[in-house]
Amino acid sequence: MSNLAPTRRITIADLAQKKARQEKWSMLTSYEQMTAGIFDDAGIPVLLVGDSAGNNFLGMENTIPVTVDELLPLTRAVVSATRRALVVSDLPFGSYEAGAQQALATSLRFMKEAGAHAVKLEGAQLEQVRLLTKSGIPVMGHLGFTPQSLHQLGGYKVQGRQDGDLIREAAIALQDAGAFAIVLELIPADLAEKITQAITIPTIGIGAGPNCDAQVLVWTDLMGITKNPPRLAKAYRNLRGEMLAAAQEWAEDVAYGKFPGSEQTYS
Ligand code: KIV
Repeated sequence: MSNLAPTRRITIADLAQKKARQEKWSMLTSYEQMTAGIFDDAGIPVLLVGDSAGNNFLGMENTIPVTVDELLPLTRAVVSATRRALVVSDLPFGSYEAGAQQALATSLRFMKEAGAHAVKLEGAQLEQVRLLTKSGIPVMGHLGFTPQSLHQLGGYKVQGRQDGDLIREAAIALQDAGAFAIVLELIPADLAEKITQAITIPTIGIGAGPNCDAQVLVWTDLMGITKNPPRLAKAYRNLRGEMLAAAQEWAEDVAYGKFPGSEQTYS
């Protein structure tokens, strides 16, 4: 259980304090009320309504087709089901790249219509980050492998092996523009460590080694539901196996007239 106060929402100031105290913390994705409530009870301080909903919830191949209208109700569900977690919503591909005004209009929808406490965007979109933070919207950055640029990057590949300095400079620029934290995805561990030391805001690693300030995982990878999880993930349970077995047992009980039993039957 986290040692952050359980009676109020986590704030970006709490996360800044954790960096100052060198306390590591965790972030999980969530796309609906059940997992949101469970992870909130577990004391996970930050929940990300990631556009990974595309390939983990909405039946898409990747994050690219996800729309604002699809992520809004998922964000609303996660916010409603939690009392403590800071809820961050991803800005979907195409909803912020055109400029700072577009990013502001999209972020305002997430804040006002869904109750998000912060937004996340991919890449060094400095104008966008400046306007959002000036407007009172906390922004989480995302560097390294940025899934919305999958085709531009030529697939799921480790980034920054040759041009690590560019990622480090982008992290510093995002911090200077006002970002409160930065996700570092799929970069060498020593580069992630250098970036973590070079900036005063928290880094959140996924496939970026053990020396980031925080770690994030897609919840279906953590729970062993994803069929072919990436190497960067570790399954702490086998919920795929558990759920498969439960569904099969129940269907068999129905077939043999064992369900419902007397306990599930009304007179
Ligand atoms: O959408 C997502 O789940 C993410 C995490 C992998 C950081 O961006």
